[in-house]
Amino acid sequence: MDAGNSRVRTTKAVLWFIVGFAIIVGAARFLTGLGTVTNLTDRTPWGLWVGFDVLGGVALAAGGFVIAASVYILRREKFRPLLRPAILTAFLGYAAVAAGLLVDLGRPWNIWRPMFFWQHHSALFEVAWCVMLYLSVLALEFAPVPLESSRFHRLTKALKSASLPLVILGIMLSTLHQSSLGTLFLIAPARVHPLWYTPLLPLLFFISAVALGMAMVVVESKASAWLYRKRPEDHVLSSLLRPLGFTLLLYAGIRIGDLVARGEGAGLFDGSWESALFWLETGLSSLLPAASALSGLARRSGKALFATGLMVVSGFVLHRIDVGGVSGVGLTDSGYFPSLFEISLSLGVVSGAILLFLFFVERYRVYDPEPAPARRPAACRAPLAAARAYSSVFVAGAAIAFALLPGGAVFGAKPLDMPVTGARRVLAVEKTRENPPGKMLVFAARGAAEAREVLLVDGNRSGEYALFDHEAHMKRQGEKESCGICHHLNRPNDRESSCFECHRDAWQPTDIFRHGAHIEATGGNRGCTECHVTPAAPKTRAATRPCRECHEDMVATGKREFVAPPAADSPFHAPGYMDAMHGTCRKCHEEEDRTKGVKVPELALCSTCHPEAVDLSPRPAGRKD
Ligand code: HEC
Ligand code: HEC
Ligand code: HEC
Ligand code: HEC
Ligand code: HEC
Ligand code: HEC
Repeated sequence: MDAGNSRVRTTKAVLWFIVGFAIIVGAARFLTGLGTVTNLTDRTPWGLWVGFDVLGGVALAAGGFVIAASVYILRREKFRPLLRPAILTAFLGYAAVAAGLLVDLGRPWNIWRPMFFWQHHSALFEVAWCVMLYLSVLALEFAPVPLESSRFHRLTKALKSASLPLVILGIMLSTLHQSSLGTLFLIAPARVHPLWYTPLLPLLFFISAVALGMAMVVVESKASAWLYRKRPEDHVLSSLLRPLGFTLLLYAGIRIGDLVARGEGAGLFDGSWESALFWLETGLSSLLPAASALSGLARRSGKALFATGLMVVSGFVLHRIDVGGVSGVGLTDSGYFPSLFEISLSLGVVSGAILLFLFFVERYRVYDPEPAPARRPAACRAPLAAARAYSSVFVAGAAIAFALLPGGAVFGAKPLDMPVTGARRVLAVEKTRENPPGKMLVFAARGAAEAREVLLVDGNRSGEYALFDHEAHMKRQGEKESCGICHHLNRPNDRESSCFECHRDAWQPTDIFRHGAHIEATGGNRGCTECHVTPAAPKTRAATRPCRECHEDMVATGKREFVAPPAADSPFHAPGYMDAMHGTCRKCHEEEDRTKGVKVPELALCSTCHPEAVDLSPRPAGRKD
């Protein structure tokens, strides 16, 4: 294998650059969370990483079981030379799946859990086991290749003799897994567009995986032949064309026939972007390549052969991305489009896999008929020159990624500013809930019997409100003496100031101190030393006179201190509005439940205060979690 030629060097340099970029993005994702580098939201929690890295990776790995089945079960010996590269691709494909999954999972450190905590009813449980098992089987299937040139002869022999059962196990697992990924989306009909959602999804996933497996073998053989300037195995590859063509026709037939049979046919020509996407995907994945494969066009020229394979691969990867999220963008109204960083991380995973592929191809006998290199590969003769070049593009990629990262990805995500305003008065009636037992308030029409005026608390006007019977609470907590329980702090010369006047943002703490106003209130320049008692000290909050010394009256003195009064050196930063509310309302309701000794929460239940389910996802102002 001529690893020293310029094509190889340029390709590897590009790949190392992308990997360098992606590593920084991956680091940011782990340090500061998914929200900072992705466009994912609570509404669209699965995006490009699931569609491309996970579903696409699994699909690309299909070559492993298709070629293995042809050689070992159908006894097509002529495909044997394609077996090793196909298994290597499958292994790397699944490794990419694992990598993609790790960055996408909200809590990747829990990934081991499905091994010990079995949940038979979950589609994801099955997916997790298939990935784990098949990845291990593929590693064992491929292990003899690097091992055969090592000292571990016994191990190599043992693995080689176990290859048939391993291969059969691999075919089984893979068949199961390809289709079960389709099953996974059957449980989410509201998230997959009707042009993609069909009960036949598992079957379609399986058939397309078979076609994709063959196409992938064509693409990678042609690409590595081009890269290493060796003679392509066109004669072997061409014999894949007929089965490929028929599989594609079968796929397209079922795909379109099923839509028509289920009455969704009209959607194919309704001019929506989904219909355009459907035709792009189906044309690319099956119609055009089927025509090219069966008409003999692909057989006649090596370029057409490669193009056919490439169309199938990109078309079906697009299909996985569509099912995995893109087709649902309109349905969920999320407007999701992957960020630059999501795209670059996906490309980085693929680039890493290709680099590993090239590593194995250069060092071991992956491509069979090629005689083992008699001399050390060129890359090993001048290892330092190559390593220097690759590490500099790697560092360049990493540096550019670092420069492009948004502030939140470096310093941690912050919620967007979201100012709040006070409560409104509305009419409500009390309702008794049966399950779980408890009381709640619901809106009442004007004039309804028992209707009373309550506060509608919705500081940020998000539509997620809580109804609060101010009068009833006052009465229950001891009328006049009650005020200080909730109104724990007031503006100077005021009583029972509204919470929103200090807790001014829905999520973030706000500073209630205004320097300018104080300079004015203390008589301008003469007043400075009232607070900056030692003028030489740094002008920080800790080194100035504590607020409470002048503002003892701000702290409410009530029947009981429910919110702890600010400490003497408190900077008077008021926490976010929701925290202030939950810190008062929920805290008391929880105490109430506890003192009453109820087993199931009654008062502390979310629905006691939030009559309609609180949905964290739709953020009109585009809040990032
Ligand atoms: C004792 C009353 C009470 C209970 C119980 C309660 N909340 Fe709240 N919650 C409030 C109040 C009051 C607000 C402020 C409403 C606002 O500003 O929109 C609030 C605000 C919120 C918000 C922010 C809404 C927005 O407008 O952005 C969320 C989310 C929320 N609560 C979730 C929950 C969840 C989840 C539970 C159950 C674990 C819960 N709450 C239990 C009283 C309560
Ligand atoms: C159980 C907690 C609680 C108690 C007790 C309480 N309040 Fe309130 N009060 C609130 C909340 C919450 C608001 C809404 C403030 C906001 O949205 O910024 C409010 C608002 C107010 C408002 C202005 C809003 C309006 O339109 O009514 C006044 C005035 C007020 N309270 C006076 C009092 C007085 C006087 C007492 C004692 C007799 C008292 N409160 C007891 C929680 C309480
Ligand atoms: C005059 C300004 C002001 C007003 C009005 C005010 N707060 Fe506060 N609040 C603060 C400040 C400042 C703090 C932080 C105190 C400290 O540092 O200990 C705070 C803290 C709290 C805390 C404690 C949160 C925690 O994390 O410990 C709760 C709960 C709270 N406020 C609820 C309310 C409610 C409910 C109202 C309205 C009924 C209200 N506040 C009105 C300024 C105010
Ligand atoms: C009511 C007390 C008070 C008075 C009066 C006051 N300061 Fe300050 N000053 C503070 C506090 C508290 C800080 C810390 C601000 C912070 O942490 O955000 C501060 C910060 C500063 C700073 C640091 C820069 C900044 O804005 O963070 C300067 C400079 C300063 N004060 C100058 C003055 C001068 C000059 C005067 C008189 C004209 C004055 N201060 C009057 C309380 C006061
Ligand atoms: C030297 C005494 C002094 C100190 C120290 C001081 N203040 Fe004040 N503050 C005043 C005076 C005087 C006023 C004017 C109030 C009035 O009109 O009675 C005022 C007004 C205020 C107001 C209402 C006006 C506005 O800005 O909305 C707030 C809130 C306030 N102070 C918060 C604070 C906080 C928080 C601190 C500590 C960081 C602090 N103050 C420290 C003297 C002081
Ligand atoms: C100091 C304790 C305390 C605080 C603070 C408190 N609650 Fe309550 N809440 C109660 C008690 C006690 C009940 C009545 C339970 C019963 O009737 O058995 C109640 C009942 C309710 C109910 C049921 C309907 C009703 O009014 O009887 C709602 C809704 C409610 N609270 C909302 C809120 C909200 C919203 C807040 C915060 C703004 C809040 N509560 C703060 C103690 C509290």
